[in-house]
Amino acid sequence: MTIPLQFFGYEKGRLSTDGVSLAEIAHEVGTPVYIYSAEAFLSPLRELQKGLKDLDHLICFAVKSNSNIAIIKLLAEAGAGMDLVSGGELFRAKKAGQHASKMVFSGVGKTEAEMKMALELDVEGIFSFNVESSHELAVLNGVAVALKRKAKVALRFNPDVDAKTHPYISTGLKKNKFGMQRKEIQEVVKRLEGYPGIDLRGISIHIGSQLLTLAPLEDAFARLQKVVLELNEELPRPLSFVDLGGGVGIRYDQEVPPTLAKYCALVQKYFGKKAKLKYPLKVLIEPGRTLAGNAGVLVTEVLGRKQRTQKDFLVVDAGMNDLIRPALYESYHGIVPLNETLTKKNLRKTNIVGPVCESADCFATDRLFSTELKKGDRLAILSAGAYGMSMASNYNSRPRPAEVLVRNGKFRVIRKRETLEDLIRGEALE
Ligand code: LLP
Repeated sequence: MTIPLQFFGYEKGRLSTDGVSLAEIAHEVGTPVYIYSAEAFLSPLRELQKGLKDLDHLICFAVKSNSNIAIIKLLAEAGAGMDLVSGGELFRAKKAGQHASKMVFSGVGKTEAEMKMALELDVEGIFSFNVESSHELAVLNGVAVALKRKAKVALRFNPDVDAKTHPYISTGLKKNKFGMQRKEIQEVVKRLEGYPGIDLRGISIHIGSQLLTLAPLEDAFARLQKVVLELNEELPRPLSFVDLGGGVGIRYDQEVPPTLAKYCALVQKYFGKKAKLKYPLKVLIEPGRTLAGNAGVLVTEVLGRKQRTQKDFLVVDAGMNDLIRPALYESYHGIVPLNETLTKKNLRKTNIVGPVCESADCFATDRLFSTELKKGDRLAILSAGAYGMSMASNYNSRPRPAEVLVRNGKFRVIRKRETLEDLIRGEALE
């Protein structure tokens, strides 16, 4: 059986990555467990680096997609910057050794404490605050002035384009809460002198996630380029960078996402040398899923089988608290047995469900699985490297899974499984 992942596949009948059998990891670490391949993170990063090499660029990994500090460190050491959305992510990036000059802070609501933390980091503060509204700009200005600093800023432009993705992960339409419209940006720029704590350097966009065609991105890039050119007419100093956000989709099932080479060519077309801009721009991108999505799987163990006349239910030990994407977005994740011989025999319509007390706790509906799969057999839920563990919760008081990283033919635990004591940490009996 072939599975649609470049870095995971069957070797001698056992699902493996980089020569390491996932069953061996599950045996040692237990289940549920997230297993990542370092090479699978690094390969798309290198592709992006190659595609943008003619440009002054910074690839900022969207830490929200996978925030384990070992993953942040892996990518930082390979040259990536970080796109952060909270003080917590900033703390993680710092712990992982990332320098502030390679960090951008996105997000629709930043607190003053978070702003202060980012302004003071590594003396110079972070590379950019991607500011989402005029009220946020005023607050950031106040915090910066009080600290006698200047906040380097990009304004987030809402280009009003339809990303044609799931409505929950579409962000570039006028009706979405994100960013500022062209008029609002122009007005802010007129009032910039009133903000002595702000150093406006760039414009950012992010129109949505899991984009399967480049057309909406091209539309957004064209609108962004226009806004940059307009603003440069008014500003005393031209803008020095654009931040194009993330969003390039990956293959979960049968989708054919755009190639990274084509994506980079599009970036070059609007912001590279080919664009013949009067003032050259540094280009930032913020890929999350592109790097993390197919770099990880969630391995789970079958707890038992329920037979019904129409179909069977396989109850597994991972739940919606461990991987919420199917419950939240009805998203598809491939599921395969670790043991290849169980992929073929006596297939029957099956639902793969978790133990959580919600009907939404279901990873697959009416898919064909072998009737021989039984208690103790293990399955891998594929493409779970992005927005998997980072969205996991303790719902139903379930300790969150362990995380394991495979690199150069070896594996190591990069996050221990939570214990029962971890569950009640900080709680008070009286
Ligand atoms: N930059 C900004 C400002 C973002 O809001 C996001 C994602 C990214 C970059 C990274 O986007 P990516 O390259 O991963 O598409 N939980 C959802 C996805 C939410 C995305 C939120 N923003 C899911 O599981 O599909």
